[in-house]
Amino acid sequence: MKVVSMLVASLLLGGFGVSAGAAQGTEEDAVFQTYCAACHGAAPAAAGTPNERAPTRDLLKGFTAEAVVNALVNGKMQAQGTLLNDAQKRLVAEYVTGKRFDAAAFAASNTLQVINRCSVDTPMRAMGRGASWNGFGNGAAGTRFQPATAGKLSAADLPRLKLKWAFGYANVSSARAQPTYAGGRLFVASENGEVHALDPRTGCTYWTFKAAAGVRTAPSVGPYKAGGKSGQAVYFGDGRANLYAVDAQRGTLLWTRKVDEHPSAAITGAPVLHDGRLFVGVQGLNEEGRGSRDNYPCCSFRGSLNAVDANTGTVLWKTWTIDEPKPRAVSKAGVQMFGPAGGSIWSAPSVDAKRHLVYAATGNAYADPPQQMTNGVIAVDERSGRIVWHHQLLPADQWAMGCEAKNPDNPACPETLGPDMDFSATPAVVHVGKRDLIVLPQKSAIAYALDPDNKGAIVWTHKFGEGSGLGGQWGGAYDGTRAYFGLADFLAPKPGGMNAVNLADGKPLWHVGPQPMLCGEKRPGCGPGQGGALTAIPGAVLNSALDGGIRAYSATDGSILWLYNTLQDYVTVNGVKAKGGSMDGNGPVVADGMVFVNSGYGGLIGTPGNVLLAFGLE
Ligand code: HEC
Repeated sequence: MKVVSMLVASLLLGGFGVSAGAAQGTEEDAVFQTYCAACHGAAPAAAGTPNERAPTRDLLKGFTAEAVVNALVNGKMQAQGTLLNDAQKRLVAEYVTGKRFDAAAFAASNTLQVINRCSVDTPMRAMGRGASWNGFGNGAAGTRFQPATAGKLSAADLPRLKLKWAFGYANVSSARAQPTYAGGRLFVASENGEVHALDPRTGCTYWTFKAAAGVRTAPSVGPYKAGGKSGQAVYFGDGRANLYAVDAQRGTLLWTRKVDEHPSAAITGAPVLHDGRLFVGVQGLNEEGRGSRDNYPCCSFRGSLNAVDANTGTVLWKTWTIDEPKPRAVSKAGVQMFGPAGGSIWSAPSVDAKRHLVYAATGNAYADPPQQMTNGVIAVDERSGRIVWHHQLLPADQWAMGCEAKNPDNPACPETLGPDMDFSATPAVVHVGKRDLIVLPQKSAIAYALDPDNKGAIVWTHKFGEGSGLGGQWGGAYDGTRAYFGLADFLAPKPGGMNAVNLADGKPLWHVGPQPMLCGEKRPGCGPGQGGALTAIPGAVLNSALDGGIRAYSATDGSILWLYNTLQDYVTVNGVKAKGGSMDGNGPVVADGMVFVNSGYGGLIGTPGNVLLAFGLE
């Protein structure tokens, strides 16, 4: 990188205020060239190189200046952000977006000014009374099914859904955390670290809490009792591996606990609450993205499943998915390398209440040597954290961004690069006929049904696409007779499409191909992928897609019952300028006759957006 310390020094003194989108040779251009340009070029970095996920210059123009500053302060660019002072962050944000940085709006959302506060602080209903969609998979089994009693929405109702209100997330380019509906409140979280309790009918805000980093997990709600206090708590995790318990009525912090000390550790999979315990996995994407670099001591992150006392935040056990990293060879740059590493847990685990087991799906390894528990499902004793069984579904998938297929003399990379076909979906516990199955899709576009009574042996598999390393398969939905899988296949020639199979034996029932894309032609930021988690109600399955469309398909034949295009600008109840974008990762939430969907997935694979949409019947 060029050395422009003189310019940087003058920036430090000069503050900001340069007009948006200024030209080359300016101070802001110098900041960009020094701190950003190496990774954010005009053309996308080649697949398989370290920056393949970095948005191009053009894609960055789709961000707001506040979202870029947030990425540098709270989000994915935190490490880069530490090199810049506040003024430089704003300058470069204005420069790459061509938009003005709205200091007042940014400050307002960083000082927790609650706009549109609910006029009455309605007491929450006790859990179990009234409808809920609790946590990522709607309960600890993770089936992503909402029965009629709680959903109060039939397949025939879907075409009558109307947008009731929209809520904007301030200063972000994505809306990735799935909402939770519980006790008559809607809990939503944002990449800027804010967690809000909203009124589901009107979208007014009861409270806003600010976490130390961006929050991507679906919150979970349940009772707590500690230190003479009791009530209901909302639980969630952040991008720095902190877990939180916040009083759900008042929004006050009950406890917070860092569940992993590795600098790359983050929580993406929602914590699952069962019997007074939270089960939560940890991922290490930041290290996976740096694995190929000669000057980084690759790799030392270890995925883990953690059990935490929901009342106190005490970590009860921590079970690693891989062995302890040991020194390996020294890189060409003279840096000591380590391994094994990886085995992230990306998704919410599930709880098998009958067998007292917690199931988690694991990610790929980042470094040699190969491990037994990557790319598979682990079954862990709920009380002790002991591994009862594990089933590796794809062995030896060592993968780090930027590595070649073969790396015989480069210890920064795995000797042979794997396909990066790991798991990002919950292993759901489903009951069908007289038996239980554990069902989940993989990035390989293979869905598995495993036998919980036979160490996770395969009962059936269903191949529904080609498979793709980039992107995720975030979860099927299971209605008791059918299993549904949406296809991501981001890098494959034919992405997108929906599939239903018979839950008992995996026999295909219907397949519907990719839909005409609402975002136009396939290009960076616009694609037909449908790898976002699905949501089933009696008679229909819902998907929110990368092209910005929410689609409901008939359970019986896959015909489309409802389509809503979220690629719009919205007037929001909280006054934050908001628009819809791509949808991936989290899925729609159905409860009490309403549908709640977050829209926006800024970055290489999606279109930015920052809106929560609430649909209801007339
Ligand atoms: C070492 C490489 C590197 C440098 C330097 C770098 N970035 Fe990035 N940036 C990335 C990668 C890789 C991603 C995609 C991360 C992901 O999606 O996981 C990214 C993502 C982003 C995003 C999208 C964040 C989001 O939430 O989706 C923004 C905005 C961004 N970078 C801005 C910047 C700015 C501004 C600078 C300079 C101050 C910068 N980056 C420097 C590699 C880099």
